[in-house]
Amino acid sequence: MTEATIAVRHLPKAHAYATVDQHLHLVLEGISDPIATMATLSCLLYHGFGHLWVGFYRVVEPGHLLRVGPYQGTLGCLEIVVGRGVCGTAAATERTVIVPDVDVFPGHIACDVRARSEIAVPVVDAHGNLTAVLDLDSEHVAAFDDDDALGLERLVRIFAGVERGVSSTVARE
Ligand code: SME
Repeated sequence: MTEATIAVRHLPKAHAYATVDQHLHLVLEGISDPIATMATLSCLLYHGFGHLWVGFYRVVEPGHLLRVGPYQGTLGCLEIVVGRGVCGTAAATERTVIVPDVDVFPGHIACDVRARSEIAVPVVDAHGNLTAVLDLDSEHVAAFDDDDALGLERLVRIFAGVERGVSSTVARE
């Protein structure tokens, strides 16, 4: 079987994220569905970069609760209260949170003890509403920096054009 995901971990970050972005749009062509988009992006980032965990926490109670969505990696915590941990902080502030060392982030929620650093990026829909948080964990300290924030923030802009809960291919039938 051929490798269906592209390894980007050895590329300069700007190039790596541009490659993932191209691949994401190619794979999703004609599909406008948030679950398919979350699953595909998780897969491309996880296998492309070789991170420990990549996935989404969805807003299920605005301003209060996140629940796990599509992800790749070991078991993720099921629910996170907005304002708690790295993901909850990204949700509460609607800002990307970079944590170079999870051991010194107050309230970090450890789903996998091997996680050493983390980045959480808010996902906003076409109406400006927070719908999810994209979360990435690495086994390495300080794996994420401003280039990752920029690259990931660009990637999640795809959700601003994704229809809520409906596949456009189905809607057209
Ligand atoms: N560490 C996260 C929890 C989610 S897991 O890393 C998959 C946090 O502190 O929000």
